[in-house]
Amino acid sequence: MWSSSAVAPNTAVLLTLSLLQLAGGSSDVNSGISNYSFPDDFIFGVSTAAFQIEGGWNEGGKGESIWDTYLHEHPTVTKDHSNGDVAADSYHHYMEDIEMIKKLGVQGYRMSISWTRILPNGTDNNINQEGVKYYRTIFEELVKANITPVVTLYHWDMPTPFMNLGGWTNAKVVDYFEDYARLAFNLYGDLVKMWLTLNEPHFHCFSVYETDVLAPAFNAPGLGVYLCTHNSLLAHARVYRMYEKEFKPDQKGKVSIVLDASMGLPKDPNKPEDVEAAENYLQMNLGMFAHPIYSEEGDYPRVVREKVNNMSRLQGYSRSRLPYFTDEEVTALRGSADFFGLNHYTSELLSPSVMEPNWKVPSLAQDTGVKMETDPSWPMPGADWLYVYPPGIRKLVNWLQNNYKILKKIPIIITENGLTDFGGTKDYDRVDYYNDYLYQLLLAIHEDGCNVKGYFCWSLMDDMEWGDGYTIKFGLYSVDFNSPNRTRTPKLSAYNYANIVRTRRIDFDYIKRSEGLNTTALK
Ligand code: BGC
Repeated sequence: MWSSSAVAPNTAVLLTLSLLQLAGGSSDVNSGISNYSFPDDFIFGVSTAAFQIEGGWNEGGKGESIWDTYLHEHPTVTKDHSNGDVAADSYHHYMEDIEMIKKLGVQGYRMSISWTRILPNGTDNNINQEGVKYYRTIFEELVKANITPVVTLYHWDMPTPFMNLGGWTNAKVVDYFEDYARLAFNLYGDLVKMWLTLNEPHFHCFSVYETDVLAPAFNAPGLGVYLCTHNSLLAHARVYRMYEKEFKPDQKGKVSIVLDASMGLPKDPNKPEDVEAAENYLQMNLGMFAHPIYSEEGDYPRVVREKVNNMSRLQGYSRSRLPYFTDEEVTALRGSADFFGLNHYTSELLSPSVMEPNWKVPSLAQDTGVKMETDPSWPMPGADWLYVYPPGIRKLVNWLQNNYKILKKIPIIITENGLTDFGGTKDYDRVDYYNDYLYQLLLAIHEDGCNVKGYFCWSLMDDMEWGDGYTIKFGLYSVDFNSPNRTRTPKLSAYNYANIVRTRRIDFDYIKRSEGLNTTALK
């Protein structure tokens, strides 16, 4: 374990600190130790995903995922023209990763299995034993260290052969996903007790089929986005029910899905049309996925169905661009989750709009009919989409809690939350981000009675950030992508997080206290 004891700050350090505070780089609202603490049954963890850290893209019998294929064919798609061939090289450095996780003292590690590492063609006629062993070793080591593996089956790395057939827009892919999931439960279910079927189907479908920011930029706006949504939901339900029937009685694990959402706020809270726009935004982007699973009545939310049906009709379609579930499918989806996995990073200000310059026709954006803006006072220390607004997370979990009664019985677990910057181990902004977002969760738990039982930082280490390549950083550990060993170094935020995990409270003065600390010496 690291020592997270305080180091006396010197005068130069205090001066730097006050300058940072003036620049808005530190918490100005809170100081001292948080009045509330995280309950004993609250679990802390860290998250990663296979493609973003593993590398070893063609090693040990692995087949290609669409991210390998697409970035090899279109090297200029990523900002730095990079790919995931080596990434943080966790394929070779996984033991180091596990040591890093142990040092943080967390109870959980969320990671994903690369589908084509265990099934090189995506199909179960060819099982790659080397890949099977790779994940088994990691899960064994985690369990030995008392760290719960939380395993995502699909974090966007679709086997290339299926992507060539349309990916999630092809309903048949659901069958093959079920085969892959069954294999994973058979292989690892003795060790893995928390499963996540899909990561962020909303962002994934929207970005692959509508905005073209994720590989392979399929460009099927308004249609592909809903086929992907529909089949992703069906794939989730299929796998949930399969686990429930074939594995749960013995393995006694939990299965859920990860949904993503920015908090939607009215641009002007006094304007009813902006309030409605914010609600429409949340329903079209989050409710579309959450309502079929967590609501009492199931199916897509009424407002979503109406919006897409109406717009489809106006555009001359004789059927809605949003497919319908059968009654059996509604039933299979309803209640198909043992907890709510939520990824949250930022918030948006909404007002109604009929058309914006960047919208395609047809498109989910146009069907939603809201203009997205941000508040100029929200800081943006890294990626141009991540604005810091800590109360957003509290409002979002309250929105979920108010919309889905089942969340009184099953908990919300924050499966991703974190901040980008451009590198360096003195990541003051990230320390503040975690402190402030976690404090809002404490308020949601203690003052609003929200049933939040876990929190996973994105990310354990700097990684391959999809289209941003390696230009932005999310890690608690920095990774030197120029060194052959991909040297990992803890950042200040890692020490701060370890301190929160250990004390179960937030020390808002952590930066002040730990300045001057030689981080590399503590490795
Ligand atoms: C994804 C991660 C990604 C993170 C930050 C989430 O949408 O699940 O894979 O790296 O956001 O961009």
